[in-house]
Amino acid sequence: MLKLPGLIDPHVHVREPGATHKEDWTSATASALAGGITTILAMPNTKPPIFDEQTLTEGLTIASQKARCDYAQYLGAGPDNAAAVARLAPRAAALKMYLDSTFGELRLDDMTLWLEHFRLWPGQTPIVTHSESRSMAAALWMAQMFDKPIHIAHISLREEVLLIKEAKARGVKVTCEVCPHHLFLNFAGSYAGAQHCCAPPHPLTGGRKEVRPRLATQADVEALWANLDVIDCFATDHAPHTLAEKDGENPPPGFPGLETILPLLLTAVSESRLTLDDMIEKMVTNPRKIFKLPEQPETWLEVDENARYEIKAAEMHSRCGWTPFEGWQVKGRVTRVVLRGREAYRDGKILVEPGFGKNVRT
Ligand code: DOR
Ligand code: ZN
Repeated sequence: MLKLPGLIDPHVHVREPGATHKEDWTSATASALAGGITTILAMPNTKPPIFDEQTLTEGLTIASQKARCDYAQYLGAGPDNAAAVARLAPRAAALKMYLDSTFGELRLDDMTLWLEHFRLWPGQTPIVTHSESRSMAAALWMAQMFDKPIHIAHISLREEVLLIKEAKARGVKVTCEVCPHHLFLNFAGSYAGAQHCCAPPHPLTGGRKEVRPRLATQADVEALWANLDVIDCFATDHAPHTLAEKDGENPPPGFPGLETILPLLLTAVSESRLTLDDMIEKMVTNPRKIFKLPEQPETWLEVDENARYEIKAAEMHSRCGWTPFEGWQVKGRVTRVVLRGREAYRDGKILVEPGFGKNVRT
């Protein structure tokens, strides 16, 4: 039995308010606990988005009644809310800016709208950007100009990781995260591992392959693995959509990920592609430092590190009912989660009630 600290996922789409047929605070936090994650940071691209005092208060009220693990809520950067979100900063996980193709209404194309956010955000927590390629370079430049910490969400490209490496070396206050799907899948929807193949032979196709940022080339995937030392955090970007939606007319982008991140990474550990210390640094130590999250006393996971099994959506707690990793053979299973002294999960069962989760910003 391996004992690990409770994991932190800085990038989760809870879907409540507005799309609870995909997920809600209760199912998302059940999924988190089953995956060994004891703190989630919830993204603001809900319906309505979380982007002012009223929507933040409403979102946090629902969360306080329904969350089973600990959490904080992001604020979304809109075209005219820079002053308002800056005032709300102490109550929020951080500020999220959508600068590229995404799901929801929060995309900011006009760079003059970014300026006010970089100017006014207080900077105790980072500005988290969904920015890709050249928009990422532009966002880095604004962070540099205003001397504010920036966290680049879900990097996927070789040019992104190399640019961040250079920016870090030159003192820019930049951190970044990578998602398992960009480490384990390439644009063909196939397993992108260098070593033995743990994935089924059929690749992802159609709407099930849609995610933003898109799955990248094999060379991009390899550059992420080769530069893991530049990457501060592993994050799921848990973005649940139902199978009917993924297989329908206009498939929305996004993959669920809360219940697969740990087994995928433990499998990589067992193949010596990663060390356990790297994993703990990127899923506990670094996110805690970057997002200024408190310690969780009496909180740990128990993992059967030798358990070999097949990933099955049917055994998961997310409401979305599918996973891009269906049928993958992995090694390492969460058997028990203790959160703040309470047994929260054991052998497939969630043992804490909705409302047990605490807002880490209060
Ligand atoms: O694939 C994605 N899904 N990328 C995003 O930027 C948003 C997310 C979602 O909310 O579904
Ligand atoms: Zn996201």
